[in-house]
Amino acid sequence: MTTQIGCIIGSLARDSINRRLAGKLAELAPPGLAITEISIRGLPLYCYDLDTSRPPAVRRFKSEISASDGLLLVTPEYNRSVPGPLKNALDWGSRPWGDNSWHGKKAAIIGAGLGGAGTAVAQAHLRGILGYLGMTVMGAPETCVPWREGIRSGTPGRMSWVNAPQLCDTLIITSIAGQAKLTCRSVAVVVISSGHCPEKI
Ligand SMILES: Cc1cc2nc3c(=O)[nH]c(=O)nc-3n(C[C@H](O)[C@H](O)[C@H](O)COP(=O)(O)O)c2cc1C
Repeated sequence: MTTQIGCIIGSLARDSINRRLAGKLAELAPPGLAITEISIRGLPLYCYDLDTSRPPAVRRFKSEISASDGLLLVTPEYNRSVPGPLKNALDWGSRPWGDNSWHGKKAAIIGAGLGGAGTAVAQAHLRGILGYLGMTVMGAPETCVPWREGIRSGTPGRMSWVNAPQLCDTLIITSIAGQAKLTCRSVAVVVISSGHCPEKI
């Protein structure tokens, strides 16, 4: 049976680097595990006036969360926190009161940013929010990607940069969840470890 991982991308940008990263992770998913986007596009701004007549985009969003065995959040960092569209989506999933779609879900976080910390601060904020929502979030390894064009997987378990191999040790294990203390198949088991990913992301 295939484990369904819902992937939530925290960026609406057409050329989002986090979307590219998410696409690569989906490609690398091992057999028996499918990573499929749960789009946050089209969600209105949250307002509890809409709780009693939820727009179709919200109903679609919540049902896709419920249908997922685990969640993978791939997000940029905006001003040292979570981007507004992602927070809005998290709010929608949590309501109406008594119908929190996030509760009990297992989750993993990854993010790519242009800053050197590679979304570390946003991830720390996101972790707090997801915990409050009743999710079990993989603690380590943290996967923060300071994005540079040409980034690619290389050394097993690591990413490296095509033009800056000396930086590869500062970069980030991209292994979501297999070794986490969560039920292994319930979160994304995405291991860029084989080095069989020669193409650029
Ligand atoms: C409003 C705004 C705030 C940003 N704040 C940060 C930040 O706090 N840290 C960081 O590393 N990059 C920051 N960036 C740069 C993002 O890393 C960069 O735009 C990245 O491409 C966003 O990811 P995306 O392409 O997937 O949307 C910010 C960008 C925007 C538009």
